[in-house]
Amino acid sequence: MAYSYSPLVLLLLLLLLPFSVSAAVATVTGHENTAPREKLTHLHFFFHGRFASPNATAVLVAVPPGTNATFNTFGAVIVLDDMLKDGPEASSKLIGRAQGLTAQASLEGTYLLMVVNFVFTAGEYNGSSLAILGRFVPDVSGTERSIVGGTGKFRMARGYTVGNVYIWTASYFVLELDAYIVHY
Ligand SMILES: *[C@@H]1O[C@H](CO)[C@@H](O)[C@H](O)[C@H]1NC(C)=O
Ligand SMILES: *[C@@H]1O[C@H](CO)[C@@H](O)[C@H](O)[C@H]1NC(C)=O
Ligand SMILES: *[C@@H]1O[C@H](CO)[C@@H](O)[C@H](O)[C@H]1NC(C)=O
Repeated sequence: MAYSYSPLVLLLLLLLLPFSVSAAVATVTGHENTAPREKLTHLHFFFHGRFASPNATAVLVAVPPGTNATFNTFGAVIVLDDMLKDGPEASSKLIGRAQGLTAQASLEGTYLLMVVNFVFTAGEYNGSSLAILGRFVPDVSGTERSIVGGTGKFRMARGYTVGNVYIWTASYFVLELDAYIVHY
């Protein structure tokens, strides 16, 4: 026996069809609405480094065998624990550390690869960190570095920093940093 629907049932099916489609659309849209929203955070702070003892914040740990120990020998590796402060003065408030390393990775000129973790230890971002990858070019302003990730409030972060030389001497330096961070 063939299935047959009464005209009333067919009419109901036709009326209900658009509702089931729109219900499915509403479900998908509703799901998108609950996804976290990205935001852009701009941070402005100062990066303080000290080459010379006492209290040096960087140490040259390796140069290729047979070469002199300088940071700009090709292959030289430095490990650093520099300071992030809210101002350019030595007495400015410490807001975090820049912990990582540089390697002189250019055969011509001094262009260091910098791999560093900005670990915030005060303020709104205390406990959060930014993973930074880029070039370190001594005493040059306008250098950009990539933000390739983050933790805490900066989970899934990406963005960039721009560094300008504020002070550069033989024993220490201060860079003014702007960080533009897209995160959730
Ligand atoms: C080194 O650190 C000590 C202890 O924080 C401080 O008293 C001293 O002034 C610092 N010296 C320099 C040259 O920064
Ligand atoms: C290391 O430095 C000394 C003193 O400046 C120099 O005489 C020597 O040639 C250098 N060695 C190398 C491999 O560059
Ligand atoms: C930063 O967070 C740590 C761990 O929660 C806490 O011990 C410390 O007091 C905080 N520092 C500041 C300056 O808020």
